[in-house]
Amino acid sequence: MSESMERRRIVLGVTGSIAAYKAAELARILVSRGYEVRVVMTQSGMEFITPTTMQAVTGQPVVTDFWDKSEASGIGHIQLADWAEALVIAPATADVIAKLAMGFAESPLLAVALATKAPILVAPAMNMNMYSNPKTQENIEELRKRGVRFVDPEEGELACGWNGTGRLADPEEIFFHVRRILSPQDFAGKRVLITTGPTREALDPVRFITNRSSGKMGVALAREAFRRGAEVTLVHGPVHIKVPGPVKREEVTSTAEMRKAVMDHMESKSEMPDVVIMAAAVADYRPAEVADLKMKKSDKTPTIKLVENPDILHELGKSKVDEKKPILVGFAVETGEIEDLLNEARTKLKNKNADMIVGNFANEAFDLDTNRVWLVDKHGRQEEVATTYKSRVANKILDTILTL
Ligand code: C5P
Repeated sequence: MSESMERRRIVLGVTGSIAAYKAAELARILVSRGYEVRVVMTQSGMEFITPTTMQAVTGQPVVTDFWDKSEASGIGHIQLADWAEALVIAPATADVIAKLAMGFAESPLLAVALATKAPILVAPAMNMNMYSNPKTQENIEELRKRGVRFVDPEEGELACGWNGTGRLADPEEIFFHVRRILSPQDFAGKRVLITTGPTREALDPVRFITNRSSGKMGVALAREAFRRGAEVTLVHGPVHIKVPGPVKREEVTSTAEMRKAVMDHMESKSEMPDVVIMAAAVADYRPAEVADLKMKKSDKTPTIKLVENPDILHELGKSKVDEKKPILVGFAVETGEIEDLLNEARTKLKNKNADMIVGNFANEAFDLDTNRVWLVDKHGRQEEVATTYKSRVANKILDTILTL
């Protein structure tokens, strides 16, 4: 279902890694998005960041040991375990992962982990050899089997001087995963292929034809589909985008490249996407010829001859294997009146054999964080989504896809 406005209660466990300072950034992100955060730290965690810092960021007392009778740590581990809607351990050391796998309860954090019924998310951070050690991997596997979710560490330079996989994931990335574990997984098991951004059609090695699309609508769709449990692939034109790590990204430049990237996903019936959302502002035409060398200024005004590009959505619609799969969603961008937009959307729905067309106006959509859309579907339904954040528009589109 759509994003809930409820406050979410997170217990954040901080253990002894050099990356512990990033826990403060994660806590800040959570608090700024309206989450309530209670921090539990291990003794070694406190060697790297102080409870005072975590208390200042969260505005809540920090739990550090079982026996502290002061008011600050007044809340017991069982209460905390019941209170939590998610337990997030970031950073998580090899040691705490091993102890979680064994079911130890020697510290308040381990006791909360053992007692809670809430989902658990673990973001490991350690030396690459400790991470790749078969014992650590076995512990991670064991925890995964018990339903614990992981945010994989990144590759890069490690505090110990080595270069490899073991760096704590970016706090924004961890946040994407927190949202996912708190959300109903109504897209679980669904493959969703999304295209977004503009395409570029080269004239010569330095010039091209393109449009003002920022790719933000497709990025919002990718993030929200991921949050709702989908396996997402995002084929995008040359724009800067930030999506959760597990979203597969394929960057393309021209319409022909985008077509190939999309069609490659249609080849195997068993791996066929369940849903294809074409949010890309694909260039309808390309220059008939691409000059090998930069075109020189001359006395004669040049004329550019254009030829039509393949229409990817149309091609998908034509070759749709059966009625249900994949569900095809296209966009229609207009600049005129609402009636024209709706007519265009209905015409595209029919001509491209799509299941739904999302109609929007260029001046309300391009490069903005908000959008106003009309959803026109194959059942004859037509719904306006008033101006709101693209994340909300994305959820509305995803809600409707589930009813197609
Ligand atoms: O026909 P028009 O370009 O307005 O259609 C828009 C919809 O069709 C969008 O979903 C867009 O991604 C898709 N499209 C396409 N291939 C093209 C042009 C548009 O898939 N060459």
